[in-house]
Amino acid sequence: MSRQLFVTTALPYANGHFHIGHIMEYIQADIWVRFQRMQGAQVHFVGADDAHGAPIMIAADKVGKTPQQFVADIAAGRKPYLDGFHISFDHWSSTDSPENHELAQSIYLALKAQGLIDVRPIEQFFDPDKGMFLADRFIKGECPKCGAKDQYGDSCEVCGAVYAPTELKNPYSALSGATPVLKTSDHYFFKLSDPRCFNFLEQWTQDGKLQPAVSKKIKEWFTKDENGEGGLGDWDISRDAPYFGIEIPGAPGKYFYVWLDAPIGYLASLKGYFAAGGPLNKYGEQRSFDEFMADPAVEQVHFIGKDITYFHTLFWPAMLQFSGRKLPTQVNVHGFLTVNNGEKMSKSRGTGLDPLKYLSLGMNAEWLRYYIAAKLNANVEDVDFNKDDFMARVNSDLVGKYINIASRAAGFIAKRFGGQLTASIGDDGRALLGTLQAGAAGVAELYEARELGKVLREIMLLADRVNEYVDANKPWELAKQEGMDARLQEVCTVCIEAFRLLSIYLKPVLPALVGNVEAFLKVAPMTFADAAQLLGAHTIGEYKHLMQRVDVKMLDALFEPPPAPVIELPKPGESTKAPMPPEGEALALGRPGGEEIAPTITIDDFVKVDLRIAKIVNAEHVEGSTKLLRLTLDVGEGRHRNVFSGIKEAYQPEQLIGKLTVMVANLAPRKMKFGVSEGMVLAASHTDEKANPGVYVLEPFPGAEPGMRIR
Ligand code: 2FM
Ligand code: ZN
Repeated sequence: MSRQLFVTTALPYANGHFHIGHIMEYIQADIWVRFQRMQGAQVHFVGADDAHGAPIMIAADKVGKTPQQFVADIAAGRKPYLDGFHISFDHWSSTDSPENHELAQSIYLALKAQGLIDVRPIEQFFDPDKGMFLADRFIKGECPKCGAKDQYGDSCEVCGAVYAPTELKNPYSALSGATPVLKTSDHYFFKLSDPRCFNFLEQWTQDGKLQPAVSKKIKEWFTKDENGEGGLGDWDISRDAPYFGIEIPGAPGKYFYVWLDAPIGYLASLKGYFAAGGPLNKYGEQRSFDEFMADPAVEQVHFIGKDITYFHTLFWPAMLQFSGRKLPTQVNVHGFLTVNNGEKMSKSRGTGLDPLKYLSLGMNAEWLRYYIAAKLNANVEDVDFNKDDFMARVNSDLVGKYINIASRAAGFIAKRFGGQLTASIGDDGRALLGTLQAGAAGVAELYEARELGKVLREIMLLADRVNEYVDANKPWELAKQEGMDARLQEVCTVCIEAFRLLSIYLKPVLPALVGNVEAFLKVAPMTFADAAQLLGAHTIGEYKHLMQRVDVKMLDALFEPPPAPVIELPKPGESTKAPMPPEGEALALGRPGGEEIAPTITIDDFVKVDLRIAKIVNAEHVEGSTKLLRLTLDVGEGRHRNVFSGIKEAYQPEQLIGKLTVMVANLAPRKMKFGVSEGMVLAASHTDEKANPGVYVLEPFPGAEPGMRIR
C-alpha cells in the first residue's frame, strides 16, 4: 500500500485576505505535497478558514454583517490566490462547518470523560455598555510598569512588560470607551497540568520527531523559573456569550475559545472532503473518514509558522491524545517572511509584497515558488524576500541554467530531425545522463526532509554539468559542419534527455511549467520513477518558449505604493457605515490619507509639542469668515483660550460646545485678521480635500479631563 498522508497548513483567520506570509507557507507545503504525490503517495491536502473568535465577531459588526456573512465574503476571495500560485489543496472548508461543531463537541466530551476538564470562577473585565466580557486585546489602559498610555491588556508595547489586564491603570474598553468592571463567571479549563498530560507531552515533544529548535523551545516552556512561575498551566478553553464560536455542550451561554476549535478544523475539513466524495473519486478510497483516521499507517502532517508552535505542539497533541485520536506525525515549523531586508510580516496587514498585485502585474507565480523554495530549509529560520536576489535566482539559475538547456537543443531536433530523438548515445552522453539519473535519490531525500534550498542547489549543480556538456560539444557549431548530423542529433538528444530529468526533479516546485514541458516532450505526467528510464528514439513536439526572465520594472512596480484610494462618500439617504476597503492593507501600506508618513522623529522631537485635552466651552461663527469658527477652550489653566479653527464647513457651533478635544497648547500665539489665536485644535482630513471632503475634530475617549497631557 502506498504511503497515506493527511497534510494541512495553518488555518488563516477569516478577517482578511491572504498576505504573502500565507502564500509562503502554502508554497512550502504544496511543494512537499506535490513531491509526495509524485512518489506515489495518497495525499489529502486540506485547508479551511479560521472563522471564530471575538475579533471577527466585532469586525463583522462594524461593517453591519453577520459573522457568517463576513467570513463567507472573505472565503469567496480565496480562489484567485490559491489558483494563481498553483496551491493544490484538495478541499477548503471553514471552522464554522457542521463537521467542526460536531467534532469539537465530541473531542471536548471525550476530554471531560477523562476527567481533564475543570470549571473555575474567573474574575474578568466586562464592558457594561456592550454587555460583554473583554478579551485582553480589547482592554486598554496605562502600563502598570512604565505608565505608558493606551497599552493592551496583556503587554506593554513601550516597555515590553507582560501583565494581567486587571493590573492596568485606568483601564477602558477599546470597544466602547467605557470603564470596564470586574465580573465573575465560570470558565472551563483543559487540565494540562494533570500529570497524565504533563508526562505525555514531555515525552511526545522530546522524542526526536520535532525540529531540534522546537523541542528546545518547548523544554523552556515546561520549566518553571526560580520563582516557580511558568511551566505548563491549565488552559482556559471557554468564552462567555456573546461570542462567535461553538457552544460547549451542557454549558449554556459558554463557547469554545477559538483556539480550541481551530485545529479541530483540520479534521473537520478532511471529514468534509470525505463527505463530498473527494478521496473516493480520486483514490477509490473505500473507507470512511473515521476508518481512514483510525488507520495507524496514515500520517498526519502540519505546516505552521513559529508563532503558533505552542498551540500545535502542546494543546493540540494533548487534545488528540486524551480524546483517543491520531497524533500528528510531523509538525513542521517555519520562520517568518521578511521583505527587502527585514521588514517583518504582521499577521493582519502583511507587508509591501501583495500577492494579487504580483499576479496582476503578469509576474510568473513560479518565479516566486522557485525563489521561496530556494530560500527555505527545514529549520525555523526567517526568510527574506530581496529584489536583487530574486532577479539573480530566477534569471541566472532558473532561466539561465535550466530553461536554456531546452532552448539550445530543441530547435535542431525539430528542424533537422523532425522532432526525433536518437537511442544511440555515446559514452560521454551516457555518463552525463547516468550522473543525472543517479541524482534522483539524493533529490528525493532532500524534498522529503523539506531541505528545499539544498534541493534546488543540487539540481542547479546537475544543470551546470549539462551546460558544461553543451559548451564542450557546441551543437551550434556541429550544425554547421558537414557529416556531423548523427553527432548533432546525439548531443541534442542528450540535452533534451537531461532537460527531462531536471524537469522531473523541479516538478514539485514548478508544476505549471513542467506541465508545458510534458506537452513539449509528448510524455505522460512524470513522476520520480520516470527518471530511471530514458526516452530513447522518441519524437518530441514543438518547443515554445517556456519562461521569461524577470524584468526589474516589474519588481519596481510591485513595491510601488498603491495610489491613495478614492472613497466615495454616501449620497443622502445611503448607509453611512464605513465602506470596507477592498484590501485592508491597501490603505495602510500606500499613502494613508493621501500622503506618505512623515520622516521619522525622535521622542525628543515629539515631546516638544505639548498636546492637551481641551474643553470647548464656547464656539461661534466669525463674522466675515467663511472658514473659521472661534473656539473658547479650557485647558485647566484657570483661564480660557481663544482659538480660531478652520472647521466651519464641517461643524455647527452647537455641535461642539461642551465637547472635549485635543489642542497644541504651546504653539506660539498667532495674530490673525479676527484676533489672536492661542493654539490649535487637532482635526483629521484627507490631503486631497476636494476628492475626499471631510474634517474631523479629535475627541478623546471618556474619562479624559481638560489639561491632561497627551503623550
Ligand atoms: O494564527 C493564525 O492565523 C490562526 N488562525 C491559525 C490557526 S491554525 C489551526 F489551528 F487552525
Ligand atoms: Zn510599559
